[in-house]
Amino acid sequence: MGLKERTVGLHGTTSCALIYACFLIWASNQCFVHGLEANQTAVLMVDASTLSQRKISDHLFGVFFEEINHAGAGGIWAELVSNRGFEAGGPSTPSSIDPWSIIGNETSIYVSTDRTSCFSRNKVALRMEVLCDSRGSNICPAAGVGIYNPGYWGMNIEQGKTYRVVLHLMSSESLSLSVSLTSSDGLQSLASANIIAASSKVSNWTKFELQLESTGTNRNSRLQLTTNKKGIIWLDQVSVMPTNTYMGHGFREELVTMVKNMKPRFIRFPGGCYIEGEHIRNAFRWRESIGPWEERPGHFGDVWNYWTDDGLGYFEFLQLAEDLGASPVWVFNSGNSHRDQVATSTVLSFP
Ligand SMILES: *[C@@H]1O[C@H](CO)[C@@H](O)[C@H](O)[C@H]1NC(C)=O
Ligand SMILES: *[C@@H]1O[C@H](CO)[C@@H](O)[C@H](O)[C@H]1NC(C)=O
Ligand SMILES: *[C@@H]1O[C@H](CO)[C@@H](O)[C@H](O)[C@H]1NC(C)=O
Repeated sequence: MGLKERTVGLHGTTSCALIYACFLIWASNQCFVHGLEANQTAVLMVDASTLSQRKISDHLFGVFFEEINHAGAGGIWAELVSNRGFEAGGPSTPSSIDPWSIIGNETSIYVSTDRTSCFSRNKVALRMEVLCDSRGSNICPAAGVGIYNPGYWGMNIEQGKTYRVVLHLMSSESLSLSVSLTSSDGLQSLASANIIAASSKVSNWTKFELQLESTGTNRNSRLQLTTNKKGIIWLDQVSVMPTNTYMGHGFREELVTMVKNMKPRFIRFPGGCYIEGEHIRNAFRWRESIGPWEERPGHFGDVWNYWTDDGLGYFEFLQLAEDLGASPVWVFNSGNSHRDQVATSTVLSFP
C-alpha cells in the first residue's frame, strides 16, 4: 500500500463529497421552486436498546506512524546528530559525511573517510588529519580545527538540560579533543568538555561517553569536535541525546506525552512506502534495525530521499508500544518495492 494509492483514494472521496453537495443544493432549489408538492419526509429509526448493542473493539482507535520527512529520525526520535556513522554515502569510500562539515581549511586539516571502523557491519569511519599544531610553524586557529554536525534542522539545545554524548575514536598521538555544543556559527559555546588521553589509551578504538549541561538556549545549535593538536584522529558512531527522553528510551518526551494522552490502543510503524522503498535494494529490512545501534548499517530511504542511521528501529518502536500501553502493528516488507520484487521462492527469508 503506497502513498500514491492513498492519495487517489482521498481524491475520490473529495469529489464524491462535492457531487453530493451539488445534488443537495439542486434538490433544495427544486423544493423552493415547486413548494411542498412532493412528500419527501424520511424517517430514520435508531434502535439504541441494549439488545441491539455491539461491543466496539478495544483496539479500534490507535495511532499510525510513518517515517516521512524525518518524522522519526529528526522528529519523535531524540537523537540530535544526523549521519552519526559517516555512512550516508553507503559502505564504500569515499562515503558521504553530509551534513557534517569541516572547521579549518586545507592548511590546517584534511578530512576523509576510510574503512577502519571497529564495527564490522559499519566499516566507514571519518579520518581527520590535523596539519596544524599548538606550536611550531603551522599554528592552529585559536578555536581549533575539526568537524561539526548541525543535526537535522539545527540542534535544539536548552539551558539547564543535560545531553549525553557518545563517540568512538582512535588517535595516532596523545589526544586533546574538545566536544562542545555551540551556536550555528560556532561563536557561542553552550556546553563543552575535553577528552584528554595518552596515546596508549587511544591507539585503538575507544568508546567515550560524557554529559554536557547547557548554559544557554539556542534552537539552531551544532555539535563541534575540535582540537589544536597535530595528528590523525578517526571518529565513528557519534551520538548526542538529551538525557530526559520519554521513559529514558530515546523518544522526545514532549511529543510522546502528547501521543500517550491520545490513549492509542495500537501503534502502527514504521511506515508504508518507507518499508517498500522505490527499489527493493533500498527497502527497509527490519533485522538491520535491531541490536546495538553502532552495528546497524542504516539505509537510504529512496522514497522520501534521505539517509537514516536506523538508530530508531524496530526494537525502539516495540519499546514505545510497550511504554504507551499500545499494541504494536509492525509493518515489514513482504518482498516488493514500488518498482521491483524478489523472486517468490525467496520471499520468506527476505524481510
Ligand atoms: C406524507 O407521508 C406521510 C408518511 O407516509 C403521510 O403520513 C402523510 O400523509 C403524507 N403527506 C402528504 C401531504 O402526502
Ligand atoms: C586558512 O585559514 C587561516 C586562518 O586559520 C588563514 O590565515 C589562511 O589564510 C587560510 N588559508 C587559505 C588558503 O584559505
Ligand atoms: C583493537 O580493538 C579491536 C576491537 O575493537 C580488536 O579486535 C583489535 O585486535 C585491537 N587491535 C589492537 C592492535 O589491539
